[in-house]
Parts: sequence; C-alpha cells; structure tokens
Amino acid sequence: MSDLTDPEIQVWQDLESSARSLLARYAFHEIRTPVLEYAAVFERSLGDTTDVVQKEMYTFEDRGKRRITLRPEGTAGVMRHVASMGQEAQDARFYYIGPMFRSERPQAGRRRQFHQLGAEAIGAACAAADVEMLAMQWHLLTEWGLKDCRIEINTRGLPTDHDRVADGLRAALDPVKDRLCEDCLRRYASNPLRILDCKRPSCKALVVDLPPVSSLMSEEARAYLATVCAGLDRLSLPYVQNPNLVRGLDYYVHTVWEITHTGLGAQDALAGGGRYRMSMGNRTLEGVGFAMGLERVIAALESQGGERAARPAPVWLVAQNETAFMENMVLMQTLRMRGVACGMDMQQRSIKAQMRLANRRHCRWVIIRGEQEMEKGLFVLKDMESGVQEELDMPNLLERFLSLQLTHADSRTTSSGAKTSTR
Ligand code: HAM
Repeated sequence: MSDLTDPEIQVWQDLESSARSLLARYAFHEIRTPVLEYAAVFERSLGDTTDVVQKEMYTFEDRGKRRITLRPEGTAGVMRHVASMGQEAQDARFYYIGPMFRSERPQAGRRRQFHQLGAEAIGAACAAADVEMLAMQWHLLTEWGLKDCRIEINTRGLPTDHDRVADGLRAALDPVKDRLCEDCLRRYASNPLRILDCKRPSCKALVVDLPPVSSLMSEEARAYLATVCAGLDRLSLPYVQNPNLVRGLDYYVHTVWEITHTGLGAQDALAGGGRYRMSMGNRTLEGVGFAMGLERVIAALESQGGERAARPAPVWLVAQNETAFMENMVLMQTLRMRGVACGMDMQQRSIKAQMRLANRRHCRWVIIRGEQEMEKGLFVLKDMESGVQEELDMPNLLERFLSLQLTHADSRTTSSGAKTSTR
C-alpha cells in the first residue's frame, strides 16, 4: 500500500478526469460503494474456490461480531446496490473509481491496496452489449494514450455448461494427472478450469494439449461467442481468441476478456472483464463489465516514455513588510477568485526565505511588493525562468494573469502599459 501525492497524483487526476468525461458520453453514472461490505457479498458472488475468496480477502469480525471484508473488487458491491433498486435496475449503467484490497504477496504490479476503474452495464445476455463494453474500454485506453494493448477473449459458457467442461477437462487431464502441481491436483477435483490458469511451467506445458474449453460447451455458448467476435470485427477492434483464458472469478457466463500491455512485466493484465450472473438476496442479476488496474495503466504509460504536459505553476506573492503582506493577502484572494493559482508564505519570513519557497514550488512568476511599490501602487513581476523583472499596475497585472491562464506558453509577452526592467 502506498501514499499518492505530487507529482504522480497529477497523472491520476488527469486519467480520472478524462475517463469521467468519456464514460459520461457512453451514459455511465458514477457509483461510490462502501469500502467495507459483509463478507457474504463477495463469498457468494466471486466463488468459494477462487484465490480471491480463499486466500486474498481481508476479512475480520467487527465489534458487533459481523464478518466484514475490505472490498477486493467492485462488481459485487455494485450488484448489491443494483439488487436494492426497482425496475430502473434493468438497464442501469455504473462506473466506479476507487481502492480495492487483496492480501497478495506484494511484487512488481501486485499491491495489497490498488485502484480500479470499473464499469458495469446491467442487462440480460446480449452479445451487442458485450461488444459495446469492449469498444468503450478500448476507446478509454486509446484516449489515455496507451499503445500496444492486446485484447484476449474467450467464453465461460453458461452455468449449464460448467459440469460438462469440468468433466471434459478431467477426462483430458486424467492420463497426465500425476504431473500436475499440488495446487492443480486440488483444482482437478474442485474446479479443473482453474488449471488452465496455473502459472507453473510444468502445468502450462500440459495445458497446451487440452481441447479448447469452448469445444466442450453447448452450441448456444459457442454461437454467443461467435456473435461477439463478429461485432468486434465490425467495429474493427483488434482482439485474439485465447481458448485458455480463464478469469479468476466464478461469476462469469459467456464472454470473458483480459487486456494486457507489452510494457508490463509478469503481471501484464491491465484489465479484466466479462459477462456475469450473480444472486443477490432473492434476485438473480446479470450484466457485463470490466475493471482496469490504475497502477498498471500508469506503469504501462511510463513504459511507453514520453513527456507529460506540465501543469501551470502557481504565482507566488512576496512581501517586504507588514503592510505589503496584508495587501498581498487581498491580492491573493482576488487572483484566486478569478481563477489564478497562487500562494504566499503565511509566516512572514525573510524575503530570501519567501523566494526559496517560490523556487521549491517551481513557480514561474513571483509578484514582489515592498515600501516603494506600495507607495506607487505598483507590483514587481519577476519571471523566474529568465530573471526579467517588470513593474505593472493592478489592471495590467490582472490582465497578465487572466490571459496567462489561456495562453500559458506565451505568458512572457509583455502586455501594454508594462515597464520592463531588470534589477
Ligand atoms: P480482476 O481481473 O480481478 O477483475 O481485476 C481487474 C484488474 O485489476 C486487473 O487486470 C489488474 O489490472 C488489477 N489488479 C487486480 N489485482 C491487483 C493487485 N493486487 N495489484 C494491482 N492491480 C491489481 C475484477 O476485479 C473484476 N471485478 C472485473 C470485472 C468487472 N468483471 C466484470 N466487471
């Protein structure tokens, strides 16, 4: 778990704000569910045999002896909310951005607190909705500037296919069963599909010879996948079918996908998603969605290199005496209320100390006021980059900074009425 602050937080804020505006275009509404839920919300929906439920959830008993879990993912909480809605739940569309918690062994790309941006569209199985969801996700990745992403897609079939798939995999693995790792031997009995997901090279080598899971499924499941693929082709979305793709959660039906990025190491999944079905209370709910790991999105962007656009630095106000200090407070408020980011030293330290603070905050502009300036009703404006100083009156100063906001790059052009000097 880590703290997030400047300068990295600026990347987060930029990603989040472009995502919010894009998601609004697709008619998704934000939802903020609690970080704590009853453990049952996840245990019932994610699946008893999944790693997340078996090994990774932070679950504890609270003072009221309730079993509480720090949310490991966002879908279950959203569906708990949807279950409490009326008719309008039928076609609800939600997105969320926030921290998730999994007690995994920390390593590159794997954190115990990480952040997801996820989206969920509620509604009965419909291949077009799956295609739309993938198209939106691809759009978002493109908008963020991510290149070299790869969509892998597969099907989990219908719940009625699950037994057939498990039996088919057991039969195919039977002759090589004793070469499976200890975990996979357990999976062989409880949930053989998970063997396809094992990271051990010895198990991976056995898996390549297995029949594709879709070949063990019903015609309905195969036709659904074909319709999704045809939709993706029509929208020219690049994807590959990966018959061994198994998502780590049990609520999926039909389409599942993962998006990877070449710039990430072993943990190369940027995002995962798919269609799901889960019971909440006495309702069975269905939807399609995805979640992206924001730390991984940022790592992928960093791996691509390239400069980030710098934010305009604030203007710094420096006072040489008590009267100037109070007048600078007034000026600072005026500038802030007109949209200019600015600051000053509240402790009235020496000029040198005030200038040091300006440097530490990477301020491009400093406004200096002393006795002389107060008498003349003028301001000294110093460009910290060039060292050039000029004297301005109030209207010119305001004009300078209000235009600065719009054309920050050209802010060194002298405005009319300004007297340029160096001192
Ligand atoms: P997930 O694949 O478990 O799916 O997680 C989605 C993404 O969260 C991963 O692809 C990864 O980028 C990120 N992630 C997961 N665990 C960690 C970790 N320990 N550290 C850093 N990043 C991590 C879900 O959570 C589903 N709820 C997705 C979904 C939504 N399916 C349908 N709707």
